[in-house]
Amino acid sequence: THVVVMNGPNLGRLGVREPEVYGALSMEDLRQQVASWAADLGLEAEVRQTDSEAELVGWLHQAVDSGSDVVLNPAAFTHYSYALRDAAAMVTKGGLRLIEVHISNPYAREEFRHRSVVGPVATGTIAGFGFDSYRLALSALAGGR
Ligand code: DQA
Repeated sequence: THVVVMNGPNLGRLGVREPEVYGALSMEDLRQQVASWAADLGLEAEVRQTDSEAELVGWLHQAVDSGSDVVLNPAAFTHYSYALRDAAAMVTKGGLRLIEVHISNPYAREEFRHRSVVGPVATGTIAGFGFDSYRLALSALAGGR
């Protein structure tokens, strides 16, 4: 199974940005952990990060065209991007799986983080386990349909 792990805005600043919320590890550390988890699970995983909504939408279109499953941390776009939600819906309605992940637990934080516009069109959501949220998502995808 080919999986694209997509990360939204400000996640390129992991390790520097609010380490008390997101931990001390960087996006580069996440890439390495994902590579090793994917190898263990027999998945082919690719990690990407962008601050651009347009780029994320384009990556979701690509996933549909190439038949890839998706692990998506939409970051702040989670809470208000209908464009991302519509693109995510194309993935799941196309029969592919899309797992929404969060490092922190948005429900334990500010009110504006309590709503995800992506969640209703995701296959499932995993939040609050630090980088392990990504491992759990990969493990769910490796478990098959
Ligand atoms: C986040 C949670 C979002 O509310 C926030 O905007 C982020 C990161 C997380 O992984 O915990 O940028 O998606």
